[in-house]
Amino acid sequence: MSESQQDDMQIPLQSPRADARLRPLKGLILAGGKGSRLRPLTATGAKQLVPVANKPVLFYALEQLVEAGIEEIGIITGDSGGQVREAIGDGSQFGAQITYIPQDAPLGLAHAVLTGREFLGESPFCMYLGDNFLRRGIVGHAERFRHSGAAGQILLKKVDDTSALGVAVLDANGKVQQLVEKPKIPISPYAVVGVYFFGPEIHDVVPGLVPSARGELEITDAIQGLIDAGNEVDASLIDDVWIDTGKKDDMLEANRVVLSGITRRIDGEVDSASVLVGEVIIEEGAEICGSSVRGPAIIGKGARLDGAFVGPFTAIGDRVHLESCEIEHSIVLADSSVKNITRRISDSLIGREVVIQRTDHRPHVMRLMIGDHGQLDIS
Ligand code: DAU
Repeated sequence: MSESQQDDMQIPLQSPRADARLRPLKGLILAGGKGSRLRPLTATGAKQLVPVANKPVLFYALEQLVEAGIEEIGIITGDSGGQVREAIGDGSQFGAQITYIPQDAPLGLAHAVLTGREFLGESPFCMYLGDNFLRRGIVGHAERFRHSGAAGQILLKKVDDTSALGVAVLDANGKVQQLVEKPKIPISPYAVVGVYFFGPEIHDVVPGLVPSARGELEITDAIQGLIDAGNEVDASLIDDVWIDTGKKDDMLEANRVVLSGITRRIDGEVDSASVLVGEVIIEEGAEICGSSVRGPAIIGKGARLDGAFVGPFTAIGDRVHLESCEIEHSIVLADSSVKNITRRISDSLIGREVVIQRTDHRPHVMRLMIGDHGQLDIS
C-alpha cells in the first residue's frame, strides 16, 4: 500500500452532511399561520405576540434558542409579519441575528421548512413553533441533538386529548415507529411538542410531500419520511410544562405558570392606601392608588389602578386603567380600561384598547361592541 493510500484510509471520507453535525445549530421560529382559535384578538395581530406575563409568547421561544447557544435564527412570517418585525427588530436585544422569511401562505409546517431552505443551507437546526411554550427551555435537548448524530429529534409529552395534535407511536424500545397528525382514533398518548431538531436530511424528504387532508404539508409526514428512508429519529419524553397557546384557556395557563415563578419588584408608584401581597411586579411608571394587588401578578408600565383589586395569576398590560373593579386569573392587553364594574372579572382574556365600563344612561341595558368570535359569559 502506498503512503498516500494509507493517508486516505486514516482520514475518513465524510459527506458534507455528516460534517454538518459539528456546525452550530440554526433556529427556525414559525410565526406565520392563521391564529383562528384566538380570534378576535388575532384578527388584528399575530397570535405569537399575545402576551404571557406581559411578554409576547414568541419571545420565550427566542430567548430559549439563544440560551441554548442558537443565535442565527430565521423567523417565518405571514400576514402579520410587519408586527413581528416591529416587536423583534434585528434581534440584538435578544443576542440573536434574525432573518425574516416571509411565507406566501400558511401551507403547513413542512412548507415553512421549504420556505426557509436557503436560510438553513446544510446546517442542522431547531424548529420552534412560535405559539408553543416550554417552561424549562431547550438547553438539554439541543445538547443531546448536537451529540447524537440523528437526522431528527422530537419531544413528546403524554397528554389526555391528542385529537388536535400530532402523535407518535413508539415501539417496545421507545423508538418512534409512526407519526400521525390529529388522529381521529386515539392511537397514542404521546403528543409531538412543537420543538423539533433536524439535520439536513429533512430537505431530501420535504420536496416529495403531498398536502394532507387539511391542505397542508405536514411536519409529521416529513418526520415519517425520514424514518421510512432509514434515518435515525430520536424521541425524548418530557416532563416539562408544555403549552400550545392556541386558545384562551391555554394562554391563561401559560400566564399562570410564568407568574408562579416571578419575584417581587416594585418600580412604579404605590400610595400608602394600597396593599401589595406576595410576588408582585409593578413596572416603571405604573401608579397604584387605594388598590390591592395579591400576587403573583404583574402590572405593566404606565398602568393605573384606582380603587381596584387585582388577584392572583393576573397580568395587567401597559397603560391599562382599572378603576373600582376586581379582576383575577386574567390577562388584560395594553391600553384597555375597566371601570366601575361590581362583579369580579375572572378567567378572562381582554384585548387591546378594550373599554369595559358601567354607565348610568337609561335604559339600563347592556350595550355591547364585541368583535367577531368574541365571547361574553354573564352569570
Ligand atoms: O403545537 C404542537 C402541534 O403543532 C403538533 O403536535 C402538530 O403535530 C403540528 O402540526 C402543530 O399543529 P397545529 O395545528 O397546532 O399547528 P398550527 O397551525 O397552530 O401552527 C403552529 C405554528 O406555526 C403557529 O405559530 C403558526 C405557525 N405556522 C403554521 C403554518 C400552518 C406557520 O408559520 N406557517 C404555516 O404554514
